[in-house]
Amino acid sequence: MKKILFATSECVPFIKTGGLADVAGSLPKNFQKEYFDCRVVLPKYKVIPEKYTSKMEYVTNFYMDLNWRQQYVGIFRMEYEGITFYFIDNEEHFSGDQIYAGMPWDLEKFAFFSKAVLAILPVIDFHPDIIHCHDWQTGLIPVYMHERFANNAWFGGIKTVMTIHNLKFQGIWNIETMKSITGLDEYYFSADKMEFNGDGSYLKGGLVYADAITTVSKTYAEEIKTPFYGEGLDGLMRARANDLRGIVNGLDYEDWNPETDPAVQYHFNAKNFRKEKVKNKLALQKELGLAEDPKQMMIGVVSRLTDQKGFDLIAYMMDELCSDAIQLVILGTGDPKYENMFRHFAWKYDKKVSANIYYSNDLSRKIYASCDAFLMPSLFEPCGLSQLMSLRYGTVPIVRETGGLKDTVEPYNEYEGTGTGFSFANYNAHEMLGTIRYAERIYYDKKREWNKIIDRGMAQDFSWKNSALQYQELYDWLIG
Ligand code: ADP
Ligand code: GLC
Repeated sequence: MKKILFATSECVPFIKTGGLADVAGSLPKNFQKEYFDCRVVLPKYKVIPEKYTSKMEYVTNFYMDLNWRQQYVGIFRMEYEGITFYFIDNEEHFSGDQIYAGMPWDLEKFAFFSKAVLAILPVIDFHPDIIHCHDWQTGLIPVYMHERFANNAWFGGIKTVMTIHNLKFQGIWNIETMKSITGLDEYYFSADKMEFNGDGSYLKGGLVYADAITTVSKTYAEEIKTPFYGEGLDGLMRARANDLRGIVNGLDYEDWNPETDPAVQYHFNAKNFRKEKVKNKLALQKELGLAEDPKQMMIGVVSRLTDQKGFDLIAYMMDELCSDAIQLVILGTGDPKYENMFRHFAWKYDKKVSANIYYSNDLSRKIYASCDAFLMPSLFEPCGLSQLMSLRYGTVPIVRETGGLKDTVEPYNEYEGTGTGFSFANYNAHEMLGTIRYAERIYYDKKREWNKIIDRGMAQDFSWKNSALQYQELYDWLIG
């Protein structure tokens, strides 16, 4: 039995701000249980709902030194859907109202978490063959492994994998503070290690010291070797190209299923969506106060409202878009400039635009189930799960050809009768608008073609089956 430990800062169903949580919560369930014992460790945040915390079982506690301080480490444990989860408890670090508080607070929080992940292992008597780290919050784990745990016989043979879900976030801060917070000495802050443009970078540490690196789509794995997408680390990505693989994310097909999803009022599948799906649209129009018209093309957006997702293109084209025969339903939070932009247009076009500036798992599912199209014109997109959810729920994605969007959405070709969505290549607002309008024409004038696009989309298989096998291969290769 091979033992794998996922270390992550978020994980469905306990706590989620984005796609990382979906991946950390669903991938472990998809490994072959006979060969892999995959467990997950994450912080025990105060904001994890009580229905989960009340089921966690207290294991033990101890004190760990981090820099000059002794810090409390509590361990809780819970079995959920066949997976063992460990939660690391520390009131000082994890009791905020939001899981990320920004720098420099997150710097100490995740230094603590990363070190605690290693420190608890002998205590819980779980010796993983591989610690699989996700994003900058766990970037220090491979570094600490090298720094102080490597000489400890108990830790012998443990390998580390670092998965990049988003290279933009690195955990960057000045070196002096970082040294005092992490307890790492000067040696670790040279240009070939954690130093980054005069500062320190947690993620870079992870990428230097991990035994293997993965990212969440093949295209993004190539893109990050170039300056435009490399976030200053493209040189390192090229240097470690042999250890870097792109494995596209999957989706939990049980959880995300339009036939059974409790949030969806009128269930449907690949056979009956032509009749059933529109009932959800009508219900949503009513719920959100939009014009109730089954024929209106409804375009959805569910997203963190950040520059990454291409919202400056949307902002630029909002008036033009709203002059078309469409409805727009937005669900998201983030940058106030985008939150306010959508609020403004929802006020200006109140029967056409619905701006829901909050987080809601329920409403997100209704949007995927109800809309005709889903808009995701990202500037960059390591993988993207929203377009996979859309495909699964018979909603046609309109995307920019970058990262995982390029790998998972096949552009419609009207001559060959192929494709699962619409896409454009350049980060340009007019190109985006042209593509949306092309989709509108097919929707209104060639409805049979439109429905065939949905047929092909719903027939795709983006469950974890294939990608989980690729991770298993990587683990086998590393463990030998
Ligand atoms: P990212 O991880 O960059 O945010 P992904 O497309 O990989 O992008 O994943 C985003 C996930 O977060 C999806 O599951 C999406 O449905 C969800 N999501 C984003 N914003 C919201 C929101 N306001 N309410 C509910 N779910 C949201
Ligand atoms: C990141 C990326 C997103 C990806 C997700 C899960 O948040 O922005 O593209 O799908 O991680 O890997």
